[in-house]
Amino acid sequence: MRFSTISAIALPILSSFALADDTVTVSDLTVRNINSTIYSVSFSVANTTCSASQPTAVVVCGDSPYRFYIEENSLDSYNLTIYEQTGVAVGLYKEQEVSTICRAGPTGATDYVCQSFSNSTFTLTFDGQ
Ligand SMILES: *[C@@H]1O[C@H](CO)[C@@H](O)[C@H](O)[C@H]1NC(C)=O
Ligand SMILES: *[C@@H]1O[C@H](CO)[C@@H](O)[C@H](O)[C@H]1NC(C)=O
Ligand SMILES: *[C@@H]1O[C@H](CO)[C@@H](O)[C@H](O)[C@H]1NC(C)=O
Ligand SMILES: *[C@@H]1O[C@H](CO)[C@@H](O)[C@H](O)[C@H]1NC(C)=O
Repeated sequence: MRFSTISAIALPILSSFALADDTVTVSDLTVRNINSTIYSVSFSVANTTCSASQPTAVVVCGDSPYRFYIEENSLDSYNLTIYEQTGVAVGLYKEQEVSTICRAGPTGATDYVCQSFSNSTFTLTFDGQ
């Protein structure tokens, strides 16, 4: 993801000083991909469920410190950015590719249900590196 795409939203939770990293597990990513766009998405991060319909911006994961942004690379590959707010106006983040396996969805030739079948480890850092 190009940083400029999200900087207006992400900057308020970024910080210029170093914070301790946090390592979280992302599991059960499911993307419903219709007409080559993300129709819906859900996954778990650190036991928190995140979901959204037709996400185009950063989405907050319920009443949790986590939020996410997702972009499609191809039908079976998605770039997922996890943000964790760790304090007032400070946070950690990491963007990582997650691979999925797709099967036909119910509504026709351009409808797919794509799932990750292994967990991903995200090491969240103050600068996303
Ligand atoms: C996903 O991340 C990879 C690696 O950083 C990058 O090359 C690619 O352009 C990204 N895809 C999108 C859709 O931003
Ligand atoms: C997908 O494209 C088809 C054909 O253009 C259209 O009929 C259908 O409504 C689209 N589905 C969604 C969910 O946008
Ligand atoms: C997630 O839940 C499992 C099982 O309840 C627990 O062992 C684990 O510590 C939890 N992880 C986090 C990050 O809370
Ligand atoms: C994947 O992560 C979930 C949630 O943390 C956990 O319950 C499950 O055991 C993990 N699966 C594997 C194969 O590590």
